[in-house]
Amino acid sequence: MAHVQIAIDGPSGAGKSSISKAVAKALGIVYVDTGALYRTIGYYARSQGITLDEIGKIVPLLGNVHIEVKYEDGVQCVYLNGENLGDRIRENEISMYASKVSALPEVRAFLLDTQKDIARKNSVIMDGRDIGTVILPDAQVKVFMTASAEARARRRFIELVQKGMPQPYEVVLADILERDHADSSREVAPAVAAPDATVFDNSDFDLEGSIAELLNIIRRTLAEKGIELA
Ligand code: DC
Repeated sequence: MAHVQIAIDGPSGAGKSSISKAVAKALGIVYVDTGALYRTIGYYARSQGITLDEIGKIVPLLGNVHIEVKYEDGVQCVYLNGENLGDRIRENEISMYASKVSALPEVRAFLLDTQKDIARKNSVIMDGRDIGTVILPDAQVKVFMTASAEARARRRFIELVQKGMPQPYEVVLADILERDHADSSREVAPAVAAPDATVFDNSDFDLEGSIAELLNIIRRTLAEKGIELA
């Protein structure tokens, strides 16, 4: 049968990646974190000495960027010009860079084929901002996953502490609000729900509860459409 495509969109910190990763494992399909691709471009921009307020300077340099996505033991690894960047793309400053580069249409166009290609070759659950609207408009399941800004900031704060990169809660919340504004008000691919997406607000769910609920939504939607997972 054809590959199954599950699109998960929503704002930063709604738990899309941890929840989608677990759901991919439960369903035996590939999890694709598209934010990692924008983060990789952001990382490259910073490594070239480009500052956040002159981010457009990345565009003429895109020809020097070669990105590869590989799955090693089920973990997505993004290679930038042959080097696996690992957790270096998770730094808070790189989040700001990623948000900036993702507003450039040239960057979005540059990453389009990489994303579509993975979904052509595998059954996927892909998370991002424009997956259900632009990248996989024919996805069989579309979910817009969200949570309140405070719930998202609390989770992100804990995650940064666990990763040994702590930031004050107020800074984390302010970054989230700033990124929300930038991501949802930009002209190119604003992070909005596809008209046919199921909205899932997980503010009051813990990780386990969110995973169970997302699995319910996916199974229900596939059953309604008469689609079986291979
Ligand atoms: O999901 P994330 O926080 O790792 O994403 C990093 C940034 O990239 C975020 O500001 C939004 C942007 N992004 C995007 O514009 N489109 C995507 N498909 C994924 C991420």
